[in-house]
Amino acid sequence: MSKAEYRPTTGGGCPMILIKRLCDTLSPLKRPDVRELKEALAAIGCTPELVAPYVSEPERLPYGRNVLYRSDEVEAIVVHLPARSETYIHDHGSSAGCALVVEGIMQNAMFQVDERGEAAYVAEFRMREGQTILAPKGQIHQMSNPGARRTVSLHLYSPPLSGAKTYKRAEQYVLDYVI
Ligand SMILES: [Fe+2]
Repeated sequence: MSKAEYRPTTGGGCPMILIKRLCDTLSPLKRPDVRELKEALAAIGCTPELVAPYVSEPERLPYGRNVLYRSDEVEAIVVHLPARSETYIHDHGSSAGCALVVEGIMQNAMFQVDERGEAAYVAEFRMREGQTILAPKGQIHQMSNPGARRTVSLHLYSPPLSGAKTYKRAEQYVLDYVI
């Protein structure tokens, strides 16, 4: 049986409700794929009120990150992107991931590695409250908050994150001549 970690961070209201839902929903899972992670996110039923006690301020990173649950199989993290902030361009190591936008809006930009090992832009999508982002293993992306208020999201990863890498954005060369 896997051991789970809990890091409830504050009192007030009923902050343990979310931790209990995470434990109840995630503890039976064995190496879930992105589809199962999406189903688990829906079953958890996270709301802005339930997640509020766990929203942390940025410290070493440009965004707040609070691990609420971790077992050998799954990790659950609350991410807080302050207004007009962004993550680094990154992958998730050998993990698959899924994220629910709980509060605010999120811009999700996708990249692929070019021949120099840099991140070449592919596409981006704007996600709103209640929408889910799927991140199959190997996906490279960057999340940002273009809004004037905070963005809070709940992320699940399987297996728990390790070995995630950041990438330099590939230069886009625009020539004002062609010959
Ligand atoms: Fe990510």
